[in-house]
Amino acid sequence: FKVPKAVNEPVNSYAPGTAQHKDLITTYHKMFNEQVDIPFYIGGKEYRTGKTVDIHPPHDHQHCVGQYHTADKEHIELAVEKAAEARVKWAKTSWEHRAAIFLKAAELLAGPYRYKMNAATMIAQSKNVMQAEIDAACELIDFLRFNVEFMTDIYSNQPESSPGIWNRMQYRPLEGFVYAITPFNFTAIAGNLPAAPAMMGNVVIWKPARSQVYSANVIMELFKEAGLPDGVINMVTGNSGTITDVLLNHKDFAGVHFTGSTPVFDDFWKTIGANVKHYRSYPRIVGETGGKDFIWAHPSANAQEVATAISRGAFEYQGQKCSAASRAYLPKSLWADIKKSVIEDVKSFKMGSPDDSSNFINAVIDDRAFKKLSGYLDQAKKDKDAEIIVGGGYDDSVGYFIEPTVIVTSNPQYETMCTELFGPIITIYIYEDKDWEEVLDLVDQTGEYALTGAIFSQDRYVIETATSKLENAAGNFYINDKPTGAVVGQQPFGGARGSGTNDKAGSVWNLLRWVSNRTLKETF
Ligand code: ALA
Repeated sequence: FKVPKAVNEPVNSYAPGTAQHKDLITTYHKMFNEQVDIPFYIGGKEYRTGKTVDIHPPHDHQHCVGQYHTADKEHIELAVEKAAEARVKWAKTSWEHRAAIFLKAAELLAGPYRYKMNAATMIAQSKNVMQAEIDAACELIDFLRFNVEFMTDIYSNQPESSPGIWNRMQYRPLEGFVYAITPFNFTAIAGNLPAAPAMMGNVVIWKPARSQVYSANVIMELFKEAGLPDGVINMVTGNSGTITDVLLNHKDFAGVHFTGSTPVFDDFWKTIGANVKHYRSYPRIVGETGGKDFIWAHPSANAQEVATAISRGAFEYQGQKCSAASRAYLPKSLWADIKKSVIEDVKSFKMGSPDDSSNFINAVIDDRAFKKLSGYLDQAKKDKDAEIIVGGGYDDSVGYFIEPTVIVTSNPQYETMCTELFGPIITIYIYEDKDWEEVLDLVDQTGEYALTGAIFSQDRYVIETATSKLENAAGNFYINDKPTGAVVGQQPFGGARGSGTNDKAGSVWNLLRWVSNRTLKETF
């Protein structure tokens, strides 16, 4: 099987003064000053219940860009019905037609939808131009293109046969619906989590995060324009408890594609476990959850590289990437150089609204995140074993702004060293150079997560030792680079331990979770 060769979408630079930049910012302002009325989608129909939630940009929380309508329990039940109706045709639709729809979606996003998707992500998720571009445009395009290629790799993988006997593998969609739940922080994840199972012939009920409904609505428009039949992806909004309760208790529930918090995912396992005899098959449970991602440097590391990894890895998108560096272990001998450079970098970061491209830092997602993060900063200001060396300020008078902050601690078990914060705060522990090998145990055994991590050294023996000792500490492990910014098709993404089922978003391994194979033997 041959499909167009997947290539990573080139990143637009949006240099101020260029037509690209002007067009994107014009789109941003146009959308910012409009009022959208976002429905939820069941069986291709738009539903507006009048029970609405207002949408406020995190960087300008007094401003409203519209509202979305929320579904009741009956609507979720209807979504299951409509998905089952759509499944009759979709599960039998040839792979070429499914592939063509998602390839078309990729090209529409690379072209006419690009600015709208980026602007939506800038407005409602408070991403700056570059962070929106690498997420809402490039990464989502890459997910669509590469998954089509992986899908055809899967279908063409067939068992051996012999004269008189023909063995085949049928990659059947799951018997039921897939529930997709997506987080606020990546528009690409919002697109990929429903699209990957749908591409494999499944029908999906999708619940985007509250702060993401604004860009999720653009994704629904994109898929519709690309030709996705009604009812294949049903986007529902509303109370997550009610939605999850209806869907996980339904006999047609066949799998969940989740990105979100560890406690919520843990609860899913409990409900699914309690219901297991009620379903047709054992459901597929695929989830990416929390992280407490690390940077570890050896005395042989290049101090400047480490400093850059800290200021980019910890503070891009206000540290709200699941991959963001949030704890670092640095040798005493390099500390003075790293500290100087990180403080310089952080002081140079401007903070403000994403429509001004010189603002590297924008707002954190909402009031709850703001209160939690500012609480940790207040605590660090009081604690004897913590020192804030840069940042520490916050202000929610206009938007939810938290300064990028570096805390240095003498206690490797200090709370912000172990707990996932999901914000622009990194905590650093300085160790004696001679202890580098023992410190690797600390890196490995701190906290419950294993999503991403980065080690820095110029010594091959050290790289080998650290890579081996930290074998289970991160699903995405970077050597001499920051722990963020995985590229689809190049660094498949996901982690184990408390960070998820490690089914690697945007990969053959992920797509295989959305099929249930039938082995056929035909004898002549
Ligand atoms: N895939 C995203 C990254 O690697 C989370 O930063």
